[in-house]
Amino acid sequence: ENPSSFVGAPDTDYAEEEQRNEANLALQNVRQQLGRTYLPLINGEYVQTQQVVDSVNPSNFSEVVGKIGLLSVEQAEQAMQAAKAAFPAWRKTPVKERAGILRKAADLMEQRRAELSVWIVLEVGKPVREADGEVSEAIDFCRYYASEMERLDQGFNYDVAGETNRYIYQPRGIAVVISPWNFPLAIATGMTVAALVTGNCTLLKPAETSSVIAAKLTEVLVDAGFPKGVFQYVPGKGSQVGAYLVNHAYTHVIAFTGSQEVGCRIYADAAILKPGQKHMKRVIAEMGGKNAIIVDESADLDSAVVGVVQSAFGYSGQKCSACSRVIVLEPVYDTFVQRFVEATKSLNIGETELPSTQVGPVIDANARDRIREYIEKGKAEAKVALEMPAPDNGYFIGPVIFKDVPANGVIAQEEIFGPVVAVIKVKNFKEALEVANGTNYALTGGLYSRTPSHIEKAQDEFEVGNLYINRNITGAIVARQPFGGFKLSGVGSKAGGPDYLLQFTEPRTVTENI
Ligand code: SER
Repeated sequence: ENPSSFVGAPDTDYAEEEQRNEANLALQNVRQQLGRTYLPLINGEYVQTQQVVDSVNPSNFSEVVGKIGLLSVEQAEQAMQAAKAAFPAWRKTPVKERAGILRKAADLMEQRRAELSVWIVLEVGKPVREADGEVSEAIDFCRYYASEMERLDQGFNYDVAGETNRYIYQPRGIAVVISPWNFPLAIATGMTVAALVTGNCTLLKPAETSSVIAAKLTEVLVDAGFPKGVFQYVPGKGSQVGAYLVNHAYTHVIAFTGSQEVGCRIYADAAILKPGQKHMKRVIAEMGGKNAIIVDESADLDSAVVGVVQSAFGYSGQKCSACSRVIVLEPVYDTFVQRFVEATKSLNIGETELPSTQVGPVIDANARDRIREYIEKGKAEAKVALEMPAPDNGYFIGPVIFKDVPANGVIAQEEIFGPVVAVIKVKNFKEALEVANGTNYALTGGLYSRTPSHIEKAQDEFEVGNLYINRNITGAIVARQPFGGFKLSGVGSKAGGPDYLLQFTEPRTVTENI
């Protein structure tokens, strides 16, 4: 299948009364289920744990969304053994069957779309429209990777006279998926089903703050028909269970999305051979960004303002794709800053279950405190153009815009992962690109311009994995904008793209003399 022929699942249309009613009903239903306990799934059984922690609603931290049973290291070992035992049969399961289970999972998510969105809204504080888009992305990953695996399964023939040459892909073995809280359904689903459909037994360790959603994904994958031991849900402390799984001699692939610090540690740990280990581990790590949008003197400022606001404050800036630097050319700098501030002022900040909310909370107290520290650092090195107030019953931070930020300042270099934007003034387009490229990261970037030579130069020289011209820089769509970066933004190939599954396979060549 040609990737461009892939058709994604449509989002909910909240303008339609019926779909709106369904969303309201789902909210009421999920509210009645709050506070339930979710247990790890090991070898097809939900197992009791000694430790149970609360996952709370960041919009209202007195509300417990669910209780999570955290795995012990002994239980993590049991899961590893179960994965090893399940591998020989899963490896031999025909691709058609594996792909069929992914398609079933996609259908189940489509049926549970409204409910899954509500869990995202309540557990990680994402506004409902964005949560709904995330469900679409999860569905798309299942369907796209199903057809991608069918494509790969055809392999290649390089036959010549007297000799057949078959090029085929086999699974690597056991995959450990360590998923982030910011796209708790979409990214967890994408990494997990990629590992599964390529024939690997897969253990999913979600970020602790999004374990209820990962438990919902687990229900979907079990109902879709993954056999016991093939898929296991292993919530636990990253520093303990996560590290144990990464370091395990049985682990072949680690698929991680999260901070640069943790990604680098996983990369290093995975390089060390353990007793009995007879393979090298493969690490796929999707890490941070310090993404910039350049606004030049020819830009359509109306659309630049809309695009920057969406990219910077969507999900409170907690997307690895979010815009955290705006680099503006001198002739339009003052006008842009003024209009950016005015547009931001009109955003509604509040609890994410309200449909009118555009900016919700940040994920937890640690994040809130860290972002506040960055705001203080920003005040020491730049001017505050806007600092919006926010409610205090949840982990809220109102959008903050800094102007006249030095390009090498702390807030222009370090990933803040919150609703804080650094606006930087530059003299010309050459300097704009130098500033844009002057960080450790290369994930997303944007340019607002009507100057063809600038657009061409940006295509050539802007160091990012995903460059967006004259639009917002978040919300990559499966099989349309394969997603991922380079430099210290990550190693590995693009999620939702034609090379992604290869990372979970071991290619082999079989030659027969005939
Ligand atoms: N894929 C997401 C986006 O493009 C980020 O992880 O916004």
